Amino acid sequence: MASLTIRKLDDNVKTYLRLRSAKNRRSVEEEVRVILRELIEGREEPLTPFAVPPAASTAPTPQRTGAPPEASVTLIIGGGIAAYKSLDLIRRLKERRVEVRCVLTKAAQQFVTPLAVSALSHERVYTDLFDPQSEFDAGHIRLARDCDLVVVAPATADLMAKMANGHADDLASAILLATNRKVLLAPAMNPLMWNNAATRRNLAQLQRDGVALIGPNSGEMAEAGEAGIGRMSEAIEIANAAERLLRPPVPRPLAGKRVLITAGPTHEPIDPVRYIANRSSGKQGFAIAAAAQAAGAEVILVSGPVDLDDPQGVTVKHVESARQMLEQVQAALPADIAIFAAAVADWRVANEGDQKLKKTSAGMPPLQLVENPDILATISKLTDKRPPLVIGFAAETEHLIDNAKSKLARKGCDWIVANDVSPATGVMGGDRNTVHLISRKDGEIAVDSWPVMTKEQVAIELVAHIARSATEKPLEPAS
Ligand code: C5P
Repeated sequence: MASLTIRKLDDNVKTYLRLRSAKNRRSVEEEVRVILRELIEGREEPLTPFAVPPAASTAPTPQRTGAPPEASVTLIIGGGIAAYKSLDLIRRLKERRVEVRCVLTKAAQQFVTPLAVSALSHERVYTDLFDPQSEFDAGHIRLARDCDLVVVAPATADLMAKMANGHADDLASAILLATNRKVLLAPAMNPLMWNNAATRRNLAQLQRDGVALIGPNSGEMAEAGEAGIGRMSEAIEIANAAERLLRPPVPRPLAGKRVLITAGPTHEPIDPVRYIANRSSGKQGFAIAAAAQAAGAEVILVSGPVDLDDPQGVTVKHVESARQMLEQVQAALPADIAIFAAAVADWRVANEGDQKLKKTSAGMPPLQLVENPDILATISKLTDKRPPLVIGFAAETEHLIDNAKSKLARKGCDWIVANDVSPATGVMGGDRNTVHLISRKDGEIAVDSWPVMTKEQVAIELVAHIARSATEKPLEPAS
């Protein structure tokens, strides 16, 4: 089966994948799998919301960067004087890399023209529920669902009343009834209408239905001499509210923490061309580095020789041998959390040759092995600069839990992530992992067994445990 190297894809494809995977909180690799699965199942929906608008348009392109849209909004423009602000709203949304498809109610067309809206949005404008061109394939359903958010601006008293009562007698109300996306309303009406008991009832109903609201603001009305609450929020305020709904802030529970991670195998030289190695791919350690970085940590990854791209935003120190790895780990201290996922060679060759060893008639050269420094144990037993949370890995082929428990005590670390690496599991070098988290809880040793997951998911779960333990209670000292 061919494998795909993300690094070698076109830049715009990479950007698209990164944005999409961040939005869906998946790894890039997992996101590619989802896209392929959905394509094979014949669902092209996930790709269409990100389609680049046709290049043939003569209207200006007001996007902040040339990058493709990240999300899409169906904007319903209601009939009120504030509809003119919706023209600016289209521009503000597009600046935020949001694709906008507009629907104008009949009343809205008294205030803004479909031509102006179309020129700004670079899209055709929808006005009619019974338009044969768009309704031949139930266009109102597509407008309701082929988007990430429905925005109603201005949301008139009449549109709110229709929505609260489930009417669907025109395109706008049919979309609002058919949508399964979040809806954001930007009300705009005369203060007396806003304060009317009927509007209050409708508003309360809409809030119970989970509809989001921005504004209205108070100020002067279009009607001479009238002021009060009812002015539609400014375009920039509505665009910011839409952005918050489209891209909720990503939690960064490890912000301010420094995380040190080792990964990969080590290569222990025999002579200038030969070395002792193991089958570790480094995937699990790299996934942890990426997850910790995504959680806001400052990450230093000390990696043995691997065939992986450096995770973005992570400081990577590339080393070969166990001794070099220890050196880099010590240089990276202090750290708040240290995770030793590397498969460090236990031994190295004592009599490493300066020249390539030759075959001679005297037989095979004797290779003397000496023990490598145990990085995990060394750091766990530090009195000065010991990271408050030290996590080791136990890759075992038998008696997994028992061996991991005794490793916890022997190495002096706080947690052990134990995984079965017997060949049948395919863990070594593979993409999935089954792990047991072994920790100390109230003086006892606790074993938390996780289901089989991708290495990225294991990493995210481990980072979530670390974040929880950092907030729950101070760590017990390692014994
Ligand atoms: O003793 P064993 O190799 O099974 O221990 C595994 C754990 O110890 C892993 O966390 C590994 O990164 C760490 N280790 C180390 N230095 C060594 C050997 C293992 O840091 N020399």
